[in-house]
Parts: sequence; C-alpha cells; structure tokens
Amino acid sequence: KADKRSTLLEINKLAANYFYYQLHQSQGKIGYDYFRKRELSDDTIRRFGLGFANKTSNDLYQYLRSKGYADEILRDSGLVTMEERGTYDKFWNRVMFPIMDVNNRVIGFGGRVMGDGTPKYLNSPETLIFDKSRNLYGLNYARTSREKYMLACEGYMDVIAMHQAGFTNAVASLGTAFTTQHAVLLKRYTDTVILTYDSDGAGVKAALRAIPILKEVGISTRVLNLKPYKDPDEFIKNMGADAFRERIANAQNSFLFEIDVLKREYDLEDPEQKTKFYNATARKLLEFNEALERDNYTRAVAQAQFIPYEDLRRLVNRLGNQL
Ligand code: GTP
Ligand code: MN
Ligand code: MN
Ligand code: MN
Ligand code: MN
Repeated sequence: KADKRSTLLEINKLAANYFYYQLHQSQGKIGYDYFRKRELSDDTIRRFGLGFANKTSNDLYQYLRSKGYADEILRDSGLVTMEERGTYDKFWNRVMFPIMDVNNRVIGFGGRVMGDGTPKYLNSPETLIFDKSRNLYGLNYARTSREKYMLACEGYMDVIAMHQAGFTNAVASLGTAFTTQHAVLLKRYTDTVILTYDSDGAGVKAALRAIPILKEVGISTRVLNLKPYKDPDEFIKNMGADAFRERIANAQNSFLFEIDVLKREYDLEDPEQKTKFYNATARKLLEFNEALERDNYTRAVAQAQFIPYEDLRRLVNRLGNQL
C-alpha cells in the first residue's frame, strides 16, 4: 500500500508537469492568456505550477500509459475515467491548479473552466493520497511564512492572489467546509487565523462555521472585511496590497463579528425586536465562563452596539442567574 501511494504521487507529479508544459504550448495559449488576464505573473504561474488540460480527450492518459503505468493505477489516480466507450481524461479544457501537501508533493488537482461554464471548478476525487478534509491549499508555502497568523480563504485564486501580493501566509480549504482536521493541521503552525472568506452570504455562513472549529483547537480567529469586494482576489486587484494590509490590521474579533451577524436577524427600529436582540446578545455573552473575560466582552459589545454597558451587564447577570 505504501508502494501504491508513492506510485500515485509519481503519477500526480508527472501530470502536473504535463499540464504545466501544455500551458506553454500553442494549444495551451488560451489557458495562459486566461491566467494573464487574471493578472498572474509568470513567476506566480511557475511557483504554483499552474497548467492547462487541453481539449484532446485522452492525451494525458496516453502520456501516462507511455510512461508504463497500468490502467488500474491510472483509474485510482482519479485523473482518468474509464467507461465502456473508452478512457478519457477527467480534466478537459481547464486551467489547472496542482494541490500540494505540506511536503510539496502533488496530491490532486483543481481545474477551472475558462469563462462561465459549469462546474466552475472540478477537483480530483478523494484518492489514497488525496483527502480534502486534511489538506489546505497553499500551506506548503504558508508554513514557512514568518507572520504569526495565517489567512484562511475560500478559493485557489484567492490564495494565489494573496501570495502574489506578498501575503504568503494564505491558505484555502479545497472547496469543502473547514474541518476539525484542518484546524488541527493549522494549529501546528499558528495560534491565530484571519478569515478572509467571500463577503457574500455563503462566505459569512462558512466563517460562522469555521470560528468555533478553530476555537476548539485553541486558535483565535479574526474576520477581515472585504467590502465592497467579493473576495481577496478582487479586493487586491482593485485596492492593492497596502489597503489589504490595512484590512488585516483592522480585522474584527470573531465574537464581535458573530454579534454583528446576529444583529442582522432583527429589525432594530422595532422595540420588541430590539429587546430580543439584546437578550440574544446577553445569552451569547454567557458563553464566557470566566468572569473577567465575560466582562471584557460585555464592555466591547456594549461599545460596538451602542448599548449602555451597565444595562447590558445587568441583563447578562440576570439571564445567567436564571440558568
Ligand atoms: P474565481 O471565479 O475563479 O475567482 O473563483 P472563486 O474562488 O472566487 O470561486 P467561488 O467563490 O465561487 O468558490 C470558492 C472555491 O470553492 C473555489 O476556489 C473552489 O475551490 C470551490 N468551488 C467553486 N465552485 C465549485 C464547483 O463548481 N465545484 C467544486 N467542487 N468546487 C467549487
Ligand atoms: Mn486532454
Ligand atoms: Mn463564493
Ligand atoms: Mn474569485
Ligand atoms: Mn470567490
């Protein structure tokens, strides 16, 4: 089985080199132009090993066969699909992002359509060497960053845009929800994560799910505000690295972020709704068991939400006594 793993690693490495080579051939020009249009430099393309899967239906398969690999192991690599009609490359007419583990070994791929087709991103299936819930894109580079915190985002292009702009401590979960295993992995390298998820509803939801998972392993979380832009890639493209650095410096404490999101559920013009919001806020403050910590947060929330501190403190205490 160890043997099979190393063979799969070999195959993925050959495939990555093949896609990278294709990107620089005439057939791959459309992919290369796509990356350039998205403002990636040649240096970035090389560093991340970006490539192109062309339109020929099984050229990668033929190439790997020519290297002596049998059908069975090629099927298990997830790079080809075998059907009754024949064998086809899984990735077709897509720009390719090799996914590396912390030891810089290629374990799988993400492929993006150029333009608006679906699915927008296609990922390697889980294989003997590729477990999405245990790997973070970009961590092989981010782990050597000297910053004390890490930046966690949603997408391949976000990681790459941040690294290119000098934020080499950015990682992404691979199109899946952030897991406890991801958090445990990050804890080896950092105690602080700044979430830079998309500013849309899905991104806010993902952030709300990630915060307690990170907290559980002892990582404290802050949340970066990307508005009015949708994701880090777009923010940096429009505002530049200095503005992004400023957003990092101003990233919000995750508890205060949670309260801000909670607030959106209430119509604060209505006194009944407003009271409900205060009660929900006070209940949430009861999450802190330690008196001093609870008081610090009560003060911070009171200030951020324009609630008189003494009133909020009394409410917290009263609800606490009812438990
Ligand atoms: P760009 O449009 O290239 O900038 O991508 P994005 O990263 O901004 O895309 P989006 O915010 O829609 O998605 C974030 C991440 O989720 C992507 O980088 C992918 O890893 C993953 N993802 C997005 N769409 C799909 C999909 O259709 N299938 C799968 N499996 N993953 C997806
Ligand atoms: Mn092909
Ligand atoms: Mn999104
Ligand atoms: Mn994007
Ligand atoms: Mn996005």
